[in-house]
Amino acid sequence: MTQTTKAGPKVLIPFYSRSGTIEALARAVAEGAAAEGADVRVRRAREMVGHDILSSVPGWKESAEAMNARYPAPTAEDAEWADAVIFGTPTRFGSVASELKAYIDGLGGLWAKGALVGKVGSAFAGSSQQHGGNESTVISLWNPLAHLGFIIVPTGYADPVMFAGAGSPYGASVISGHPPAGPTEAELAVARFQGKRVAQVAKKLNAS
Ligand SMILES: Cc1cc2nc3c(=O)[nH]c(=O)nc-3n(C[C@H](O)[C@H](O)[C@H](O)COP(=O)(O)O)c2cc1C
Repeated sequence: MTQTTKAGPKVLIPFYSRSGTIEALARAVAEGAAAEGADVRVRRAREMVGHDILSSVPGWKESAEAMNARYPAPTAEDAEWADAVIFGTPTRFGSVASELKAYIDGLGGLWAKGALVGKVGSAFAGSSQQHGGNESTVISLWNPLAHLGFIIVPTGYADPVMFAGAGSPYGASVISGHPPAGPTEAELAVARFQGKRVAQVAKKLNAS
């Protein structure tokens, strides 16, 4: 009997990052999903602020340009392609960055067609302060995900890495400090786990 092997799940990771912290987390999420056999697209949402803001902090402009050279901007086609979408954002006053929100707000055409209904959705975040809003930011992303019909998958306390004092049961997170420093190994481990868990759930949904 011939057996057809199903391709791995398609995972889209649209993120916004200005100084590279969320980018590092996005890469770890991608690693976790790829290790589960997922076909992964990592995409960076583009700026919504003007040059005055981007030039107001040393390094922001250069970092944004370097990331834009590494990642295309996310498109509606990417979201339609994906079986699962894992959104990443820095905390902006306790909520999602306007750059990532603008991408989500551009998905109205897919909402109208119900094209994202039943896909897996998940979110991760970063803040400079320990209690600076990572959890509220991840949960704020769940609102549009619900409207779009995603099946929301949190990290939960579903793996031993969730007990190492990093991330949250809502999603991976990084506390970057000020100026931002990269994620710790424990924070990266949660991000990898999030990618893995989302890919596993997407695989199961594809199989049914
Ligand atoms: C406009 C603005 C608002 C921010 N709001 C918060 C906040 O509410 N809480 C917090 O802890 N950090 C806040 N931050 C800090 C960023 O969330 C944090 O430095 C993040 O890790 C940066 O990610 P990136 O390096 O990927 O750009 C804010 C930064 C900016 C520029």
